[in-house]
Amino acid sequence: MSNYHIKNLEEYFQVYRKSVRDPESFWEEIAEENFMWRKRWDKVLEYDLSKPEVSWYKGAKLNITENCIDRHLYTRGDKTAIIFEPNDPSEEAEHISYKQLHERVCRFANVLKNHGIEKGDRVCIYLPMIPELAVSLLACARIGAIHSVVFAGFSATALSTRINDSDCKMVITSDGSYRGNKTIDLKGIVDEALESCPSVQTVLVAKRINSEIPMKTNRDKWLQPLLDEAYHDCEPVIMDAEDPLFILYTSGSTGKPKGMVHTTAGYMVYTAYTFKNVFQYRENDVFWCTADIGWITGHSYIVYGPLANGATTVMFEGVPSYPDFGRFWQVVEKHKVNQFYTAPTAIRALAKERLDFSENYDLSSLKILGSVGEPINEEAWHWYNDNIGKKNCPIVDTWWQTETGGIMISPIPYSTPTIPTYATLPLPGVQIALMDENGEELKGNQVSGRLCIKFPWPAMARTIWGNHERYRETYFSAFENKYFTGDGALRDSTGYYRITGRVDDVIIVSGHNLGTAPIEDAINEHPAVAESAIVGFPHDVKGNALYGFVILKEIGETRVHENLRKEINQIITEHIGPIAKLDKIQFTTGLPKTRSGKIMRRILRKIAEKDTNNMGDISTLLNPEVVQEIMDGAI
Ligand code: PRX
Repeated sequence: MSNYHIKNLEEYFQVYRKSVRDPESFWEEIAEENFMWRKRWDKVLEYDLSKPEVSWYKGAKLNITENCIDRHLYTRGDKTAIIFEPNDPSEEAEHISYKQLHERVCRFANVLKNHGIEKGDRVCIYLPMIPELAVSLLACARIGAIHSVVFAGFSATALSTRINDSDCKMVITSDGSYRGNKTIDLKGIVDEALESCPSVQTVLVAKRINSEIPMKTNRDKWLQPLLDEAYHDCEPVIMDAEDPLFILYTSGSTGKPKGMVHTTAGYMVYTAYTFKNVFQYRENDVFWCTADIGWITGHSYIVYGPLANGATTVMFEGVPSYPDFGRFWQVVEKHKVNQFYTAPTAIRALAKERLDFSENYDLSSLKILGSVGEPINEEAWHWYNDNIGKKNCPIVDTWWQTETGGIMISPIPYSTPTIPTYATLPLPGVQIALMDENGEELKGNQVSGRLCIKFPWPAMARTIWGNHERYRETYFSAFENKYFTGDGALRDSTGYYRITGRVDDVIIVSGHNLGTAPIEDAINEHPAVAESAIVGFPHDVKGNALYGFVILKEIGETRVHENLRKEINQIITEHIGPIAKLDKIQFTTGLPKTRSGKIMRRILRKIAEKDTNNMGDISTLLNPEVVQEIMDGAI
């Protein structure tokens, strides 16, 4: 029996049982098998979920880049670590070997050091999907700096909030980025953000689109000349197992974004283990995850998980629709991709297009298909299975979160029979509890409730940067001694899990987590707006889209409303980014409120979903009359 490359369902159950019976030996065995430790741990696990305090591999010393790069130099030095596929298909792809990656990371790490970055300093990375992005993460990790990657689609305001929250000393960006046939002025966004970021001393700028951009004296530096001058080797800084590796922000239902802190050893072991098991990665396979490294999926399954396994990982700069809807499949054919991992929203968008976009390409290299980020609906699952996998590639519907660091519930290919819309079974080491509203665990099968994890796993986030109490309150207070995910799930008669969606005010739009509160705050900044409420409604490509109910200070004419809609979306774009724009905006004179003044989103959700036959009890509302008005004006 192997912890890796589980071969059948019986073996999965054996490994799973072992992981529950004795989690410490289970995770100890995995840590012993595959990694390079400068000092062994004193204790595999110490925890107290009431505080919560969790420590994995305490006392161990390591550097994650030694594990992701140096360790492979003897056996895989010339093997390709990263294939960079540019936005424009006529630009040549770049193959970066492990040896080259080592040199690039070392040079970059020396540039960081030469600019005063030390262990524990925070570095904000705001880059498109170019090799410098992966290299900069690893360069930070090489010297123990904590990276905080901000997705390069976020606005200047969103960027500055994140930079200030963790007092970043440096920003790494580029002169601009390509996105399909558009270019984006990233450096301009950084300049605007930095008007209110006193902690930033240096901005390193990679050249990507060769645009003329202003460079601020003493602050902004072109990256390439510095790399050219830097020494090609850099000793790794040896880290404690629990030293922070990175911060990554995720939206909450209220308040500012939460800087989830991931630490070194547990995150490394878990992402490496899950990568190998879930994608059944074999030497010489080519793995492609289409996510952006700005999200956790990219951190764990483009960079750390694959590289810790000495894998070849594809980094794609472009979008699925450029130059046409065949681009994903052209890249699969070109690089002979074996495992392909994407989001349901991309699958739905492609499924709407002509079939010959995929039929024109040779997809026979594919062995395993993955899905992540939101529930995959049955239609999309079948389209993916039939047209891309040719009914020959297991689909792994992987459920996890920024907070969990790695995949938690997923089929293991060739072992777990798949069923559309089911993430199926927890991975070894993952102990699930479904809870009812009274805080009782639901035992047995055919139950549905709130999805919790009742035992620590190595890649769990340890805290929220600068606010441990918020971490406790958000994740560990709803159910005693359990991590609450914010999702609902059902366990069917065979024990399979199906994720039913968020049970809080987070809405997943095109696979992106959006909290309602920050969007409402942005809208309320508009001088004409008195109050607003956002809910989600089903959308056939995005999964969910956003519906805003807005009360104006003065009731205007309909003609003016059109302009206001544009202005509201403009304000959202400025505060958060275009991903948070509203699809529908309805102006109303009131919002349904409870007697304590809370907005009853349940009612707004039903109206947005056009499911108004049974509105439930509205008699307890402060203003029940407003419900009819909103229903009449629904879009
Ligand atoms: O609601 C779940 C949904 O995405 C949320 C986590 O979002 P984020 O932290 O941005 O991480 C996304 C990538 C790991 C979850 O709480 N979600 C993620 N994967 C699935 C999913 N919902 C259903 N099925 C999935 N496979």
